[in-house]
Amino acid sequence: MTKLLTPIKFDNVQLKNRIVMSPMCMYSCMAQDGKITPFHMTHYISRAVGQAGLVMTEATAVMPEGRISHEDLGIWDDNHIEGLKQLNEQLHSYGAKTGIQLAHAGRKAELNSDIYAPSPLAFNESLKTPTGMTAADINNAIKAFKEGARRAKEADFDIIEIHGAHGYLINQFLSPLTNKRDDEYGGSTENRYRFLSQVIEAVQTVWNGPLFVRISTDEYAEGGNTLDDIIYFATQMKQQGIELIDCSSGGVVPASIKPYPGYQVKRCERIKQEASIATGAVGLITTGLQAEEILQNNRADLVFIGRALLRNPYWAKAAADELNASLPAPKQYERGWR
Ligand code: FNR
Repeated sequence: MTKLLTPIKFDNVQLKNRIVMSPMCMYSCMAQDGKITPFHMTHYISRAVGQAGLVMTEATAVMPEGRISHEDLGIWDDNHIEGLKQLNEQLHSYGAKTGIQLAHAGRKAELNSDIYAPSPLAFNESLKTPTGMTAADINNAIKAFKEGARRAKEADFDIIEIHGAHGYLINQFLSPLTNKRDDEYGGSTENRYRFLSQVIEAVQTVWNGPLFVRISTDEYAEGGNTLDDIIYFATQMKQQGIELIDCSSGGVVPASIKPYPGYQVKRCERIKQEASIATGAVGLITTGLQAEEILQNNRADLVFIGRALLRNPYWAKAAADELNASLPAPKQYERGWR
């Protein structure tokens, strides 16, 4: 049995294999309402039919001002629950477990309205300068993550992933490059972690299922978080009961990144070992053999597949074939699977 196709359990949620559809914004909501559309149904259900063990939604905004674009998926209102619930019902019927990535863009929101961040620093010349958040703004954002988690539970998601990566709001608190606050939310590594810590605590008051966090493990810029800072955050997350850290990188400040196959795996492995926590590897993982190497060498517990799954919803089948392993077919496809 390959490790890629071996089930794994997080709390009481068993994934049938280690293949995760990585969260990917589709910018496809109509009427700027954050609601699921027929496109989202087709898009996500195809990957469940294609046997991804965990199908994770794209970044889903917990506040309207936390969207990257007006076309982002949302979970800021009870009206969002029904569509997400219908999506989950379908995904579950093909044997996938489901995750939702709860997100707030902070200063990276490309909206007409006011935007917010820990400090009033624009990401670049084309984005607005955000308003520095007051204590009340911080409490509202924390509450929004909690309410988003409550709605995610009502919509029957199995797993929640908090988006703490790619320079969005949580990452803006974590990074010394974007957080210049002089209150208890800024300055030391411990203070910069406070916002994420409070988001996790708030979410846990309404959510008792597995909780993942995606972080940027490298900021590719002088003065950004060091690997020691990242391992501190990971250790804190482990103590708070986070089940898995999804190890991505970048997006905090404009920087040139030269990706190569598995470019984020090394830090993922370090975090797994040094913080003794399960990790997810992501980034240019494109073949079954590459995924199997990462898992067999204990460099990660899950592989998150992004673009390769966009190109091929049946990536899991291709990976299994490459590994000479057998992947169960959806029953409708049994006659044509081999
Ligand atoms: C992404 N990515 C991403 N990441 C995330 O945490 N939330 C998101 O909503 C998105 N949106 C998104 C959209 C699109 C079109 C792409 C291609 C990527 C990043 C993605 O999850 C993944 O980390 C990277 O694409 C690297 O993995 P791959 O694509 O090399 O497997």
